Amino acid sequence: MDMDKLVSLCRRRGFLFQSSEIYGGLSGFWDYGPLGVELKRNIREAWWLDMVTAHNELVKSPGAPSTYEMVGLDCAIIMHPQVWKCSGHYDLFHDMMVDCRQTKHRYRYDQVRGRWAEHRGQRVFIATVAEHEAEDMSQRAQKFFKLRAKEADQIVWQGETTSLDKVKDLSQVFAPEATEIGTLTEPREFNLMLETCCGAIKSDENKAFLRPETAQGMFVNFKNVTDSTRVKIPFGIAQIGKSFRNEITPRNFTFRSREFEQMEIEFFCHPDTSREWYEFWRDRRMAWYTSLGLASNRLRLREHPPEELSHYSCGTADIEYAFPFLPPGEFGELEGVAHRGDFDLRSHMEGKLVKNAAGCLELELGADGKPVQKGSGRDLTYRDDISGERFTPHVIEPSAGADRATLAVLCEAYTEDQAPDDKGAMQTRVVMKFHPRLAPVKAAVFPLVKKDGMPEVAKEIYAALKQRFIAFYDEKGAVGRRYRRQDEAGTPFCITVDGQTLQDGTVTIRDRDTLDQSRVKSADVVEEIARRVEG
Ligand code: GAP
Repeated sequence: MDMDKLVSLCRRRGFLFQSSEIYGGLSGFWDYGPLGVELKRNIREAWWLDMVTAHNELVKSPGAPSTYEMVGLDCAIIMHPQVWKCSGHYDLFHDMMVDCRQTKHRYRYDQVRGRWAEHRGQRVFIATVAEHEAEDMSQRAQKFFKLRAKEADQIVWQGETTSLDKVKDLSQVFAPEATEIGTLTEPREFNLMLETCCGAIKSDENKAFLRPETAQGMFVNFKNVTDSTRVKIPFGIAQIGKSFRNEITPRNFTFRSREFEQMEIEFFCHPDTSREWYEFWRDRRMAWYTSLGLASNRLRLREHPPEELSHYSCGTADIEYAFPFLPPGEFGELEGVAHRGDFDLRSHMEGKLVKNAAGCLELELGADGKPVQKGSGRDLTYRDDISGERFTPHVIEPSAGADRATLAVLCEAYTEDQAPDDKGAMQTRVVMKFHPRLAPVKAAVFPLVKKDGMPEVAKEIYAALKQRFIAFYDEKGAVGRRYRRQDEAGTPFCITVDGQTLQDGTVTIRDRDTLDQSRVKSADVVEEIARRVEG
């Protein structure tokens, strides 16, 4: 699938716009248009319904070690700065970056890649961040060696494409977009948290951060939730909300944004069963994506090797999707499912924790022997009423991105096929094949012509549908053109009022994917659409 076509459809049909577009846009920020807002809302609502509302705590879910409960939270975006010091974000939430002294561009160290090229004894590392790195590298090498395209074969390429961290001497690197060699600085740490200031005076004391994840709100409210409800371990807290990261190189449409939405669960369980719960959530979350129509051959579950695990995690799997903007065979993360042990609750009780030589978590002490960062001092342990045992719960965290899920659904839906036009001639049509549950508009209603009482009947059907679903009414232009517009919007069903309606009270329902048209009584349309949408 051609990503440019999808990006242009998203803008043209109102799925996604660049933020502040009339001022030239702001990198890493996006606005959802009228169709996009409904699509993303449907994804969020499907998640909340499937994970929280519809979860039955009385019945054991398939594959779960036992029954469990689920509750929700909606926490503030700005939290006490100590939260980020204890969580480790203040010190550890950073990317390594390099700056180009010539172009003033900044790159993520791990995202700059390149290959050694040699011509007449001069050897240089041609660096790039482009998706089509092979073509880009060849053109940049020609530019560097001042060669014409037909002289490109004089360049001797050495070794395979590698990441910049394999290059010891940055003075030999021809940086992306630069025109001179050796313009990159040594890599430096760059904290990804966006800062703000609370209160009238801009001082260090008033410094605050926009949350880089929703998770911490659920940890710091652990006690509030158990004290204010009757939930017992095992239980999960769910939250959907905005998060912010000052990404060095936001790119690939909404994939890496600076403002994005997360759908996170913090699942609290007994340490003895945490491994089983981790496996349950990993498999359950993977199945959720296929249930929403993502093709299983474009999805994969990748368990992290031990050396790739976060400082707190004893097991993590990523659910990944083969986004079309990635090179063939590469996948991008949709969701991480992490076994976080007792790291988070202990951090907020005790203070900043580090792993000791034996791999156990302990309070980090400064040179003076005092904790570098104290915790809240509150008791965040849990007492089991029946056994009387007191313990610090372990946490399993399925953490999904609402924008990445939306992007994957958009990529998956984009289809070009052949369909007859008004005159019966086959034409290429663009159709967004969304799962009916996710489609922004569930049904469109058309009078075949704007006379003979057809608009009146169509408007009545439209009004009835709108009580249950997002519906659309259109009476302008040839009916074939109206179908095409709905195909591009991904509307699964189009209802047409025609001459026969006026005689026998039936209308046609056209199926977006099969193009089948069946007749139903106009009085039954709402129930029929409900049956088809809800399955
Ligand atoms: N609490 C754990 C956590 O935040 P993460 O892997 O950093 O883990 C979870 O983020 C999910 O949030 C990712 O799998 C992705 O879907 C989404 N996400 C993270 N950074 C993002 C960004 N810059 N733009 C869009 N989505 C992002």
